[in-house]
Amino acid sequence: MPSTRTFAWTPSDLPDQRGRTVVVTGATSGLGLVVATTLAAAGAHVIAAVRDPGKAARVLPDGLEARVVDTASVASVTAFARRLAADGIILDALVNNAGASLGAFERTDEGIERTWATNVVGPAVLADAVLPILGGPAPRIVLVGSNFSQRTRRVPPAEALDDPRRYAQLRAYVDSKTAAAALAVDLGERLRATGSDVRSVIAHPGVAATGMNGQAETLTQRIGGRIARLLARTPEDGARSTLWAATDPDVTEGVFVGPALRRGDHRLHVVPVRGPAADPAFRSAVHAAVQRAATMP
Ligand SMILES: NC(=O)c1ccc[n+]([C@@H]2O[C@H](COP(=O)([O-])OP(=O)(O)OC[C@H]3O[C@@H](n4cnc5c(N)ncnc54)[C@H](OP(=O)(O)O)[C@@H]3O)[C@@H](O)[C@H]2O)c1
Repeated sequence: MPSTRTFAWTPSDLPDQRGRTVVVTGATSGLGLVVATTLAAAGAHVIAAVRDPGKAARVLPDGLEARVVDTASVASVTAFARRLAADGIILDALVNNAGASLGAFERTDEGIERTWATNVVGPAVLADAVLPILGGPAPRIVLVGSNFSQRTRRVPPAEALDDPRRYAQLRAYVDSKTAAAALAVDLGERLRATGSDVRSVIAHPGVAATGMNGQAETLTQRIGGRIARLLARTPEDGARSTLWAATDPDVTEGVFVGPALRRGDHRLHVVPVRGPAADPAFRSAVHAAVQRAATMP
């Protein structure tokens, strides 16, 4: 049974990262940018996995290697992992951080609703694709999740939504993060079953003032986003849980780490995974659905 604990942690507690190689997706803004630059400053070889190389050139400091990936595309994440392997790279950690919350229904070129493709299918396929090149003393895959998945009672459908008339931004986002958390737990279980020492960990940032809270179409959503930003932590504060999950030598899986909702509380809380992601039947259903989506022609 995973333990529950609470502790103070700041990036000054980061162990020396020299000799570690870490991929951070969505490293050109918000939390991903903080995670990537903080790990690089601590000595890690950071591979910033970005969708926009022009933006990467503008925002990333020297020393970070940028590689292009579209985490909403199965073909792109698969090719990205293949190139890492072909270049002989061994990863200590993958930080599956890239995410989206979209105001309107959209399908990717591969025919998958875009929120689901970005937050669920892409990260899950990327996680599986990098398994052969994870190594080092405490290899891990960190999912940047949302506390919504711990609190929701709604068991989402295990498949991507395929009906634009039923699309609602917040529901699509919460469903996707719930499914992503379920897949992270499922991954950990599959790794244990094969005797792998790779750990699958979920970190959430609380509410952090990033572009994520501005991605709204309707007036109500925009007002909600404004309120969220007023209550929000800085991206630096929100990124601490992911940094801890990506670097703590003793991190265990099956846990969810993040701050409390109150932004004055700067401790990290490690708790068991709750909500639909704790349900084995839901995990298997999402895993099977993602396998089908990943192999669609
Ligand atoms: N902020 C919060 O309160 C909050 C709360 C819970 C969970 N989260 C999670 O935290 C993670 C980071 O979000 P954030 O708050 O830092 O928001 P953000 O500032 O909007 O950053 C999202 C990042 O994902 C990248 N991205 C989006 N779609 C992509 C795609 N198809 N391919 C490659 N990269 C893509 C974006 O690239 P560009 O730079 O090119 O736009 C950006 O770098 C997300 O997984 C989000 O769900 C955030």
